[in-house]
Amino acid sequence: MGESKITIKKPEDIKILREGGKRLSYILGEIAKAVRPGVKQTELNDIAERLIIEGGDKPAFKGYRPYGAKTAFPAALCVSLNDEVVHGIPANQALSEGDLVSLDIGLEHKGLFTDMAITVPVGMIDSAAKKLIDVTKKSLEIGIKEVKDGAKIGNIGYAIEKFVKQYKFGIVRELAGHGVGYAIHEPPYVPNYGKKNSGLTLKEGMVIAIEPMVNEGGDAIYEAEDEWTVKTEDASRSAHFEKTILVTKNGAEVLTPSPL
Ligand code: MF3
Ligand code: CO
Repeated sequence: MGESKITIKKPEDIKILREGGKRLSYILGEIAKAVRPGVKQTELNDIAERLIIEGGDKPAFKGYRPYGAKTAFPAALCVSLNDEVVHGIPANQALSEGDLVSLDIGLEHKGLFTDMAITVPVGMIDSAAKKLIDVTKKSLEIGIKEVKDGAKIGNIGYAIEKFVKQYKFGIVRELAGHGVGYAIHEPPYVPNYGKKNSGLTLKEGMVIAIEPMVNEGGDAIYEAEDEWTVKTEDASRSAHFEKTILVTKNGAEVLTPSPL
């Protein structure tokens, strides 16, 4: 992703993104409410597809084939369980008490795209898993605080990494946040680590997805045999939170507010 095609969203497009983000947040909240021991991953995806279609919108991930990918993503929702980091294909398999499940979803509303993710517990989880979720969620908020017109994009990753490191958790480096809006993935690249005052300068009207992926163990990841699911190398558990953010003069406007 070069920096040449970074887009500034027009006011009328921002209105559409705001509405799309609101819808997406509601839908992800409904999916999260359905999470419990015994529910199948495919049932969660069915809820996602149904609610998106009922709203007259399109699931942005279904049929999406990034450059270089051998297959298109087959579902509306990414479901990533425990040591799965991101991009899990919803399996015909029930969730179990104690699991950690990441839910990632994209919406196309009137031609404009929003992207968001949360990690939620299945029933009762252990305190280490709870800590992992809380730290990852907080790291996203800390990254968002760095966003404003004139700020350097490296400040986002710098702040996230600095926060997460205190807990001795791993941060995924091979995957990052991204520009979003006119497509599900646009430039620029928004890493979850970095140097203060480095990288491109954020401008009012840019829209980015910030999405820290935090591991209980080390940073390393690999791609599973299905060529989609990303897992931790050391089989430690992983959490992921993502929001779509508009850069404004005074800071960040969150286009996909927390659903829960
Ligand atoms: N939120 C995911 C990301 O930015 C989008 C998944 S694309 C899909 O990486 F193809 F997996 F659906
Ligand atoms: Co994303």
